[in-house]
Amino acid sequence: MAEQKENLQMEKIVSLCKRRGFIFQSSEIYGGINGFWDYGPLGAELKRNVKELWWHTMTRQRDDVAGLEATIIMSPQIWKASGHVDTFADLMRECPLTKKRVRADQVEPQSGIVYSYTGANSTLTDNEIVNFRADLKNVLANLQGDDNVKTLAMAAEDLLYGPLNVGKIRSYLQEWQDKWVGSPSLIKYLEEFAGKHEGHYSSDSFAVLIPTGKPPESAQKIAQEFYRQQRVRNPELLGEEKKKVDNSIDFHPESGVGLTEARPFNLMFKTYVGPVESEDNVAYLRPETAQAIFAQFKNVLETSRQKVPFGIGQIGKAFRNEVTPRNYTFRSREFEQMELEFFIKPDEAVEAIHGSVATVPETGHPGEPQPNWGWQAWHQYWVEERVRFYEGIGLARETLGFHRQTAEELAHYARACVDILFKFPFSKKDEQGNVAGDELEGIAARSDFDLSQHQRFSGKPMGVFDDELRAAWAKLPKEKQDDLWRRFYENRKKYLTKMARPDETPEQIQKQATEDANGLAKGQYIPHVIEPSAGVDRLILALIANAYSEATTTDAKGKSETIFTMKFHPRVAPIKVGVLPLLKNKPDLVKKAIEVRDLLRPWMNVYYDDGGSIGKRYARQDEAGTPFCVTIDFDTLGEKPELLDTVTIRYRDDGRQERLKISELRDFLLSKIR
Ligand code: GAP
Repeated sequence: MAEQKENLQMEKIVSLCKRRGFIFQSSEIYGGINGFWDYGPLGAELKRNVKELWWHTMTRQRDDVAGLEATIIMSPQIWKASGHVDTFADLMRECPLTKKRVRADQVEPQSGIVYSYTGANSTLTDNEIVNFRADLKNVLANLQGDDNVKTLAMAAEDLLYGPLNVGKIRSYLQEWQDKWVGSPSLIKYLEEFAGKHEGHYSSDSFAVLIPTGKPPESAQKIAQEFYRQQRVRNPELLGEEKKKVDNSIDFHPESGVGLTEARPFNLMFKTYVGPVESEDNVAYLRPETAQAIFAQFKNVLETSRQKVPFGIGQIGKAFRNEVTPRNYTFRSREFEQMELEFFIKPDEAVEAIHGSVATVPETGHPGEPQPNWGWQAWHQYWVEERVRFYEGIGLARETLGFHRQTAEELAHYARACVDILFKFPFSKKDEQGNVAGDELEGIAARSDFDLSQHQRFSGKPMGVFDDELRAAWAKLPKEKQDDLWRRFYENRKKYLTKMARPDETPEQIQKQATEDANGLAKGQYIPHVIEPSAGVDRLILALIANAYSEATTTDAKGKSETIFTMKFHPRVAPIKVGVLPLLKNKPDLVKKAIEVRDLLRPWMNVYYDDGGSIGKRYARQDEAGTPFCVTIDFDTLGEKPELLDTVTIRYRDDGRQERLKISELRDFLLSKIR
């Protein structure tokens, strides 16, 4: 019941999004395309505001982050180095009949009766048998010759009675063909018929689950369809067995057919660069924006005059051929990411410079960045900074959830990852009825893995030189140097061993790890990285779900009406202010309203509306989520002299109205929307 209510909530949201022009199905006039969505006029504004705010908060407002805008298609080597070509895959199971795939970990349990078969034989149809026998009789009647021919004809009469299949004709031919070269017409007829009607035998097993109570014929029909696809003509099913199953996850939820074993399926969209579609020209649509940041790390470092610790932020499209796009825009095949790669010193370098690495509590904001922060403090800092960002655009902390990945869930190179979740209407409840939420953003501590991989694959150095470290190292006591050297060496060796090429020997790995640790002593290292990676579209969906509110009122005559309001935070609201002349047929009111519109327009998205009653116009803006409406009335024109050049400002969320001078309007609104 509860789930139904939540689905209903999603249905209402989807319907409002379409009706008010937030989100449309891509290619809708052609029936849509699964996993792709378009943003309509209000959605486009909302999205733009969200991206602007992220960019502003993460780059322009900070001294230690630079921006990047890289291409979607990059050298395929990038995806080799990052591991996406080899490992960016979901484990999938396939319906052998419809070829539809499902994620192995997302098969809904099903119960019913399973019919299984060990294979199928080709058989002749009744019609084919009747026609064959009629023709055979003719051939036999026209046979002429000696006793041998008669014997042959008598033997062939066997084919006129009893069960018949191509196998039986073949056995006859095998037995008689060589002996009766004198009767070509019969042999020729049988050979031609067998050749034409030859089918295939299939020994592939097949199983299908049908609901209890359905007749076995429905299972047989599905099985025959499967064997027909295997080129078995008119299949005769073999070895039928029947079994009751409960809550099995081995059958396709739509077809009921037994699923194949799980196999990896790469999620990257492939294309070809240039006119030749060969393996040499394969390229991929990026599945994340992050890798471009790593690939351009050195260029940005050199041109932005930044020093570690610093970050590079990027917003852009990403593409994943998700097997089961679902929950509206939540899991799409084309989406946008807002990613920051924040490069930090390895802990050994921090310790060498500052004597120790600061420890901070695992929860709460650790405060302003400090020079003695290691990866753990930076990671905690970014988790809390990102939560602040969400709070700042209207997602209160209680609408969010957190998931700290367990050791089993973490990638082998990652030290920690915290997912920030949002409690969507479709988010599942646990047994106690609590909703954890679904992922909005992941904040990962990725060690030096990414830059190290690009260094190895490109052959270009990705390390930095840190003169503070070099100077500090020289002053360290020998034991401290040895201790730090050993720890750094072990970390590098661990990484190099894990990612070793098949031809790399342990000696080569040790040599490389030694060189890396010697480098540290000279002030060189590959920076580590903290990665806050957010999805724009998921955030848009969260903001829409969070803003959606409805209220039903019943008037004195018992007529009820439901009013929808999108309570967006003014910072993200698609339209910031509606400008409404009280009456559209009063030129002075209209002229003044247009003046107000033009006064505000350079600063924010303004919607001028003079159509319909003022109540209707407010309601329209409420549905669009416009936080403020400004009405120009006769007092604005000086009907009451003390109110000359003032307007009424109406607040969306409580309908409150107050009077404000036009000269103060712009600054007032800016203070609310920034
Ligand atoms: N560079 C790290 C990375 O890409 P991810 O967890 O795969 O990590 C980061 O993706 C964010 O991108 C997710 O938290 C989510 O918000 C968004 N995202 C990922 N796949 C998505 C999809 N299929 N549809 C919409 N958003 C997606």
